[in-house]
Amino acid sequence: MTSTKTTAPTKAQPASKGAKDAIALLKADHEAVSQLFAEYEKTHSVPNKKALVAEICTALSVHAQVEEEIFYPAVKAALKDKLLVPEATVEHAGVKDLIAQLEGVEPDGEMYDAKVKVLSEYVKHHVKEEQTEMFPQAKASSLDMVELGARLAARKTDLLAQAA
Ligand SMILES: [Fe+2]
Ligand SMILES: [Fe+2]
Repeated sequence: MTSTKTTAPTKAQPASKGAKDAIALLKADHEAVSQLFAEYEKTHSVPNKKALVAEICTALSVHAQVEEEIFYPAVKAALKDKLLVPEATVEHAGVKDLIAQLEGVEPDGEMYDAKVKVLSEYVKHHVKEEQTEMFPQAKASSLDMVELGARLAARKTDLLAQAA
């Protein structure tokens, strides 16, 4: 019994390892940042706080950029959206403003903690809107989420390499 049962070569390209569709990828980013904020809440060490904030700022900046360059324009076009994407873009501007106030700054006590707290609440609100409004509508549209996911992943890799 030779096991030469030819597994018919499929034309479809095998999904590369860990390939995620666009929504799975963006949700995984949201989850990762939420974990980092939770870690921040628990630590009292200044070096830890600084390292966590650096990680949060990089992750959020890269995430916002790939959404704005790739995901939002695709969603806007597919849904003929005039509401969700503009609102999300304005929220990103608020997030970026807080990131700018935190990046490269020494954790100096209550004001620093307050900024991180407000950033985390801001992000939580924004993520909720994406996940409960934008993503379900995008999923129900004609968008190819696998193709979009591949583009998001590739751009993320580029941007993270630049940030390193
Ligand atoms: Fe966003
Ligand atoms: Fe997002």
